[in-house]
Amino acid sequence: MDKFVKICYVEHESTEQLPPVDAKLLEAAMRATETSYSPYSHFRVGAALLLADDSIVTGSNQENMAYPSGLCAERTAMFAAGAQHPGVAFKALAIVGRDSQDEWTSASPCGACRQVMAEYERLGGSPLRLLLLQKGGKVLEVKGTDSLLPFSFSM
Ligand code: THU
Repeated sequence: MDKFVKICYVEHESTEQLPPVDAKLLEAAMRATETSYSPYSHFRVGAALLLADDSIVTGSNQENMAYPSGLCAERTAMFAAGAQHPGVAFKALAIVGRDSQDEWTSASPCGACRQVMAEYERLGGSPLRLLLLQKGGKVLEVKGTDSLLPFSFSM
């Protein structure tokens, strides 16, 4: 018998439709693109993570000439938060892309970043909301990593 997995997300027309706390998080992600080191892809990604104590930790993609050694913006932010704020749960993560023409665009998280999100979400014990800027200005809000990575790995 076929079984189906339901995913859930909200589409916001623009950043102006967001509650101030989410708008601020997206702005922090946009600012974080300034710290991207992406001389190979010329694609800047910014991530901003809101923690349970309301602090914000940002990250950006960091590339390397040995290509696989680079790291996505999301994991840069999550690992920085894990190292600097151990034991503090993650509440929300905003992610934005900025292309080589300097246009804001989407950066849908890769599978490895989704797996890392899923584990920190489990550790924190509450859903991790994702805010994903889309090309054109809409914002997708995903209410938890179940909707991003069904069947994530766990032991
Ligand atoms: N990248 C991220 O930082 N996050 C994503 O969600 C997707 C891709 C980075 C990796 C690489 O530095 C560049 O974007 C192009 O793939």
